[in-house]
Amino acid sequence: MADKSKVAEQYYSKPPDLGKWESFRMFLWNSETGQVLGRTGSSWAKILLFYLIFYAVLVGFFAAMLAIFYQTLDSKMPKWQMDSSLIGSNPGLGFRPMPESATVESTLIYYRANDKGSVLKWASVIDEYLEQYRKKGSGGGEAAGAENRVPCSYSTGTLAEKQVCDVPVENFHPCTSANQYNYEQGGPCVFLKLNKIFNWTPQPYNTTEDLPAIMPEDLKHHIKTIEGKPDANMVWVSCQGENPADVENMGPVQYIPGRGFPSYYYPFTNKEGYLSPLVAVLFEKPRTGVLINIECKAWAKNIQYDRYERRGSVHFELMVDRS
Ligand SMILES: *[C@@H]1O[C@H](CO)[C@@H](O)[C@H](O)[C@H]1NC(C)=O
Repeated sequence: MADKSKVAEQYYSKPPDLGKWESFRMFLWNSETGQVLGRTGSSWAKILLFYLIFYAVLVGFFAAMLAIFYQTLDSKMPKWQMDSSLIGSNPGLGFRPMPESATVESTLIYYRANDKGSVLKWASVIDEYLEQYRKKGSGGGEAAGAENRVPCSYSTGTLAEKQVCDVPVENFHPCTSANQYNYEQGGPCVFLKLNKIFNWTPQPYNTTEDLPAIMPEDLKHHIKTIEGKPDANMVWVSCQGENPADVENMGPVQYIPGRGFPSYYYPFTNKEGYLSPLVAVLFEKPRTGVLINIECKAWAKNIQYDRYERRGSVHFELMVDRS
C-alpha cells in the first residue's frame, strides 16, 4: 500500500490551482499543448472530417429513399383509389356556408334577417366559396385551365381532354350573390356539394325500380316523372327536418338548378379547372326564432347512407330570427 501511494505521488502532480477565469482561458487556448477548446488541431480536423462524412452519408441515404418513394407516385392521380384508399368510394356531402372555423364543432347557420351585417356575414362566406366558380371568362389573365369550362348538358358528347363542365352559379336565381343568396328575405340558400373522389362515377337511380324504402316520397315521385329520360341520371339530393317538429318548421324547399348533381360531371379525374357541381337548397319559409335540425342526403346506388356515421349525408341547423 505504502509503495503504491509513493509511486502515484511520483507520477501525478496536482494541477496548478488556477482561478475560474484562468482555467477557462486555458480551455480556450492551451499554449502548452496547443489545444483549442480541449482538442488539438489534428484532433479537430479528424472529428470534423468524421461528421462531414457521417452527415453526407445520412443525407444521401435520405435523398435516395425519397427518390425511390417519389418514383411510386403520380402527381396527377392518387396511388390508392376508391376502395383501396382510406377515404373509400362513398362520397360524403358538404354544405356551405360553413360556420366560422373558430367554432369547428358548430354546424349552426344563425342570422337575423333584418340585420344587414348579419346577412352580409353569411353572404360573404358564400361569396368567398363561390369565387372559384366565377373565375371563368374574367379576362385572359386567369390561370391556365380557367378558360376550359364549357357548358354541359346530357346531350353534350364526350369532352375534349382538357375540357371540364361549367357550373353556372350566376344562374342559380334567387340564390345569387346579387340577391345575397336570399338571406335578407328570410329564405336562405344553403349550397350542397358532393366530395370529390378520384374516378368515382355515380350509379344513379334513373328508374323507379328498386328505389330504397327510406327515400322521401316527393323524390320518388320526381324520379317517376322523368324515368327513362337522360335527365334522370343524377345523384339525387333531398333535405328534410330531422324530427317531426323540424319537418314542420323547415317548410318547403327548392333545389336549384335541379334536384341533384348531374352525372355528366363525373368522374372527377383531377383535370385542371374541374368544378364540383353544386345544388343550392332554398329554404323558402323556415319558421323564424326556432332552431331547425336539417339533414340532407345524396342518393345513388353506390352511395351508402348512415345517419350516425354521417355517410352520404350532412347535418346542419338553421335558425332565422326577425327582430
Ligand atoms: C341508368 O343508370 C345506369 C347505371 O346505374 C346506366 O347504365 C343506364 O344507362 C342508365 N339509363 C339511362 C336510360 O340513362
